[in-house]
Amino acid sequence: MSQTTAQSPFVLATSLGRKYLMALSGLFLISFLPVHLAGNLLLFKSDGGAAFDAYSLFMSTSALIRVLEVTLVLGFLVHIVDGIILTMKNKAARPIGYKGGSGKVQSFFSKFMAPTGMIILIYLIIHINSFTLKHRIYEVGNLKFYDTVKTAFELQWGGFYAWFYVLAMLLLAFHLNHGFQSAFQSLGLNHKKYTPLIKKLGLLYSIAIPVGFAAIPIFFQLRYLRVI
Ligand code: HEM
Repeated sequence: MSQTTAQSPFVLATSLGRKYLMALSGLFLISFLPVHLAGNLLLFKSDGGAAFDAYSLFMSTSALIRVLEVTLVLGFLVHIVDGIILTMKNKAARPIGYKGGSGKVQSFFSKFMAPTGMIILIYLIIHINSFTLKHRIYEVGNLKFYDTVKTAFELQWGGFYAWFYVLAMLLLAFHLNHGFQSAFQSLGLNHKKYTPLIKKLGLLYSIAIPVGFAAIPIFFQLRYLRVI
């Protein structure tokens, strides 16, 4: 690892630099998810979507949010491109794992980082296409966000769209469970006292956030099927 660092004058082009970038962009994305979830929980309000539509209108028209959106897209791009490069380099250098460099055997969850990451990427493309692009490109001004979400989770793909979200959230949980604690390790933030706490927090986060997101399509489907 340090060998590669010494070879390149640009720290971000080294394997250590890439690990830092992966960790920092990952932590940045980890901070985005609770904010996104908090807004989406307005979908549970029984007000015909009024609160969610007001929130969505603010999100899609505020200049500050636009700036944050660019940062978010950059965060995703860095994380995805860096993840692909790291996975390819690790494959070429097996059995050295991306976390260690010490020849450690990969942990159970770390093995799933690349496959779950790729599926979450596919999920994101589908997600942004059916919500963001639908409103900003395909049907500008014609739709309300609540109606788009409701139709998507009730009817899209014959109802399967909602269950695809639930499956994607299960994979997101796997990805976050390892990613959360691994980010701290990659940044060298190891501490006898705090590392177990970080692991516990990571576990809690990786369950609570995907469960919160998954509850939304489940709610819309069950209500549509008149189960609730
Ligand atoms: C039930 C779950 C979810 C719902 C109802 C939902 C809803 C939405 C909506 C309505 C938008 C469009 C916002 C706009 O264009 O102004 C959006 C955008 C977005 N969502 Fe989600 N989302 C969900 C889960 C997720 C998850 C799990 C992720 C990440 C893994 C995610 C990442 C994004 C991103 C990156 C954008 C584009 C950024 C933006 O336009 O502000 N979403 N989501």
